[in-house]
Amino acid sequence: MIYLDNAATTLMKPPAVPEAVLSAFGHLGNAGRGVNSAALDASRSLFSAREAVAELFHAARPQQVAFTLNVTQALNMAIQGLCAPGDRIVTTAADHNSVLRPCRMMRDQGAEVEIVPCDKQGCLDWQAMENLVGDGTRMLVMTQASNVTGNVYDIRRAAKLAHSRGALFVLDSAQSAGHIEINMEALGIDVLCFTGHKGLYGPQGTGGLCLRPGLEIRPVLSGGTGVQSYNPHQPPEMPTVLEAGTLNGPGIAGLEAGVRFVLEKGPETIGRRTAELADRFLVGVRKISGIILYGDFSSPRTSTISLNLADYDAASVSDALYENYGIATRAGAHCAPLMHEALGTKERGTVRFSFSWFTTEAEVDAAVKALTELASGQSA
Ligand code: ALA
Repeated sequence: MIYLDNAATTLMKPPAVPEAVLSAFGHLGNAGRGVNSAALDASRSLFSAREAVAELFHAARPQQVAFTLNVTQALNMAIQGLCAPGDRIVTTAADHNSVLRPCRMMRDQGAEVEIVPCDKQGCLDWQAMENLVGDGTRMLVMTQASNVTGNVYDIRRAAKLAHSRGALFVLDSAQSAGHIEINMEALGIDVLCFTGHKGLYGPQGTGGLCLRPGLEIRPVLSGGTGVQSYNPHQPPEMPTVLEAGTLNGPGIAGLEAGVRFVLEKGPETIGRRTAELADRFLVGVRKISGIILYGDFSSPRTSTISLNLADYDAASVSDALYENYGIATRAGAHCAPLMHEALGTKERGTVRFSFSWFTTEAEVDAAVKALTELASGQSA
């Protein structure tokens, strides 16, 4: 199989990732639940993973990193834990359901939710954002990069706007972490939500959030923490406030290995490599008659590319790529309904190609060749 669905999850991982997961079995006890060597090993392993994540995102200190199952859980925790009924929350049409649905849950509970529109290239309407993020807004929560078009948004500008109106700035880094250098302190990110299994090359079931020091957050989940057992409530300190129950120790050990891989290469180097692959793909597909590309190709972008072939349904093209050529892509709405409305692809979706550090030029060329054959009515 030629795997070109790295925006959904990276399939190929650095060897250190599965090694770390495997070695965690049989040596990690339960962190914070005793002073036997296995429990202490687990605490040390978690702390070391927090250090790696804090270094990658320039979080103030490792204790400000809390682990979750994925970025969806992290975003739910940030949105529900920092907003209340009556608050105004602003998000964007570029966002994934991992942001849109928690915002709508808050709206059902009495919050006011506003959505910044996108144009047909997926670009944000910054004037609308200026108007919608008014004084009294509690939170601007948005993605750094579209999971459909690969467009990258100016989060420095968004964070500055949020802060100028007294709002918090919460970032969904699902599509950008590992591809783009993200310095949460320099960019003014109050909460950075991340997932482990995409550009950080960790296992599925890992993710988390980095919270700016001084920001108090209500827990969405409460339960055992191994500390303050006689406190009837979830302890308020980070990271315990957001970590109820036993964490995914082996997964987080794997996540640390993935993050250290990204730190060693550098997100910019990884981003450059995947951009080269995306450019190679673009040069090839632009020669195919009937190809429709979606997004803004004149501004910063990740290596994610969405397209359609003539008037074919996206799912049928994606199926043909897999059935006839063994090429895995993702078709459909990509859990980003408002982006597809903006692009005009609500009915048929798009076929999405996304590359990773481990994608080869030969795989990109095979995808271009397959699309060329499908466009000309040939098949393998
Ligand atoms: N959010 C992931 C994607 O875009 C799963 O495919």
